[in-house]
Amino acid sequence: TSHPDSFHTSTHCFERANRLYYFSFALFVFNLFCLHITCLQVADLYCSACECALCEDCLPAHEDHPKVALIQALEQHRSRLQERLGAVQNRLPQISDALSLVSEILQQLNNQRASIEEDIQSSFEDLHKQLDVRKSVLLMELEVTYGLKQKVLQAQIDNLTRGDGDITTTCTQTEEALAEEASVATLEVEHELEERLKELAILRMPCQPEENDQLDLVMETDGLRKSIHNLGTIVTTSAVASQSEAMGTGLEQCIVGHPASVTIVTRDKSGGACKTGNAILSAEVFTPDGSIVDGEILDHKNGTYEFIYTVPKEGNFSLALRLYDQHIKGSPFKLTVSKVSPSTTTRRGKSPGQKKKGSKRASSALGTPRRKTQNPIEDDLIFKIGTKGRNKGEFTNLQGVAASSSGRILIADSNNQCVQIFSNEGEFKSRFGVRGRSPGQLQRPTGVAVHPSGDIIIADYDNKWVSIFTCEGKFKAKLGSGRLMGPKGVSVDQNGHVIVVDNKACTVFIFQLTGKLIAKFGSRGNGDKQFAGPHFAAVNKNNEIIVTDFHNHSVKVFTTEGELVLKFGSNGEGNGQFNAPTGVAVDVNGNIIVADWGNSRIQVFDGSGSFLSYINTSADPLYGPQGLALTSDGHVVVADSGNHCFKVYRYLQ
Ligand SMILES: *[C@@H]1O[C@H](CO)[C@@H](O)[C@H](O)[C@H]1NC(C)=O
Ligand SMILES: *[C@@H]1O[C@H](CO)[C@@H](O)[C@H](O)[C@H]1NC(C)=O
Ligand SMILES: *[C@@H]1O[C@H](CO)[C@@H](O)[C@H](O)[C@H]1NC(C)=O
Ligand SMILES: *[C@@H]1O[C@H](CO)[C@@H](O)[C@H](O)[C@H]1NC(C)=O
Ligand SMILES: *[C@@H]1O[C@H](CO)[C@@H](O)[C@H](O)[C@H]1NC(C)=O
Repeated sequence: TSHPDSFHTSTHCFERANRLYYFSFALFVFNLFCLHITCLQVADLYCSACECALCEDCLPAHEDHPKVALIQALEQHRSRLQERLGAVQNRLPQISDALSLVSEILQQLNNQRASIEEDIQSSFEDLHKQLDVRKSVLLMELEVTYGLKQKVLQAQIDNLTRGDGDITTTCTQTEEALAEEASVATLEVEHELEERLKELAILRMPCQPEENDQLDLVMETDGLRKSIHNLGTIVTTSAVASQSEAMGTGLEQCIVGHPASVTIVTRDKSGGACKTGNAILSAEVFTPDGSIVDGEILDHKNGTYEFIYTVPKEGNFSLALRLYDQHIKGSPFKLTVSKVSPSTTTRRGKSPGQKKKGSKRASSALGTPRRKTQNPIEDDLIFKIGTKGRNKGEFTNLQGVAASSSGRILIADSNNQCVQIFSNEGEFKSRFGVRGRSPGQLQRPTGVAVHPSGDIIIADYDNKWVSIFTCEGKFKAKLGSGRLMGPKGVSVDQNGHVIVVDNKACTVFIFQLTGKLIAKFGSRGNGDKQFAGPHFAAVNKNNEIIVTDFHNHSVKVFTTEGELVLKFGSNGEGNGQFNAPTGVAVDVNGNIIVADWGNSRIQVFDGSGSFLSYINTSADPLYGPQGLALTSDGHVVVADSGNHCFKVYRYLQ
């Protein structure tokens, strides 16, 4: 037979080889099919050049082509097929991850919509209620005011009417009497009339109006209408992490103890720059063994953000920048933290994280046995609890700490979005606030306090409010919503009022437990009544509020009216100096215990701010300590944030 073109041939073959349909189809797809399948005389050879199997008939045509055994070719093709299959199958987990991620985001979006809808409904119901109340008050005021005036005028009218009646009657009677002939018989009556007329002539009558008719309503509604017109804003951006970028020197390196800065530019899915702020960004600087999160993200409100942070010790760190929980382009970044250039470090020998200058406790100096070297004790650590993780008893960037009078230790586990509760002995008891979108869902709990009523008060930095839970962990209420910008620490004063340290607003708020604002003080700055970065607060017996000012490296004591009573501390590593103070607590004697974040130590001061001692933490050093509290059994508990655990120390009062 002649050799028509291959297309024609293959069509021909298919028409004639129904029996072999499946086999031939498979082979055909991979060109293993001899184009002369009709002859069914397979040569067991494969032409590599033409990528086809050969039969006896076509061998001569491929005489000069390289050939391999058909078996071998089949195997090769099989393995290639397998490889391709594998490669494509390998995409499945990725796609399924993406699918679940996007579904989760959609789910969250739906939840968010539902919750905001609820918020809008309840806010407006609230406003309606308030309007109704005001309406009733005004109507009542109108009734009362009208009533008072009406009574006066009505009484005047009654008086005049009676007077009018009396005069008319008497005059008529007198006229009638006068019309009759005068006689002795009428003399008595006339006498009487005369007396009456005498009286009536001088009777005082209220002829001047005793009230006026003014009853006006002034309703300044223009401002209100304008406010209502602009009431409420739906805040969002279309920024996505995969398109958003970070830039700045702080992305790669920084110097120990010096602020570094990174600029983040948010973009939408097609790379267009976002022009509005309020995107949810988080930044974390960490080493493989722990994390130090303490910088500030500034929202320039134009789609760019600045992350300013300070790292307390040298080393190789990672810097993770997340937008809506997703890493932005290039994140996590490698960050090299070095010491100050040698020429300026003559005074500074060691890295501040390790420094334990004069780490001697005043109480030890008075001759307690612990100074004896032949009986070497450990440091003041009694025990520590926790490792990095998401489970019960594990932490991710724990921050605030509180202790209850009932023997509980409460930890604000900020990245795990929950509060965990332990016994004074460190036994895990419970936790609440974990993921879900219940009304009490915590976003970033940073501060925790226990109210004398047993309620648990939690500062939620990202939700920008303070949540109140029952001691069983049931959500009760929130306070400060719409007022707070970034609450970090909370405390309770002697009157049971809630002290909130708004880190972002640089303001201390005092609320009633009901949410009523009682007072606030402070603004951003380095002045006496200002803060450069307030973190935590404690309250002493005099009901004075002790606030740590992270960026001013000082501790400030205020009255509840906001008058500065005392300020102590400066930047440095010496006794009584700070490198960014965080947690603070007061003991029964009024001594002040302060976590010194950047120096990774705990200092003790007397009530007047004089340095007393350190808690000996040298055996198992702290790494970026945050919240701090005194337990009901007299120990100091501190959130060792960078080590993702909390530590309980002996404390001599
Ligand atoms: C009527 O008004 C006059 C003067 O205002 C007052 O002296 C008098 O007592 C009034 N009479 C009555 C019945 O109220
Ligand atoms: C956004 O605002 C910051 C601070 O005001 C400014 O430095 C920056 O240039 C602005 N960026 C853009 C893109 O407008
Ligand atoms: C950081 O990494 C560099 C190179 O990987 C290494 O030479 C250096 O010793 C590391 N520094 C620290 C403090 O671990
Ligand atoms: C702190 O504890 C360590 C033991 O871990 C001890 O060697 C050191 O002397 C203690 N420092 C003071 C000042 O007591
Ligand atoms: C802290 O504030 C004081 C004023 O209260 C100011 O003089 C000082 O420079 C500030 N310190 C730092 C490190 O900003």
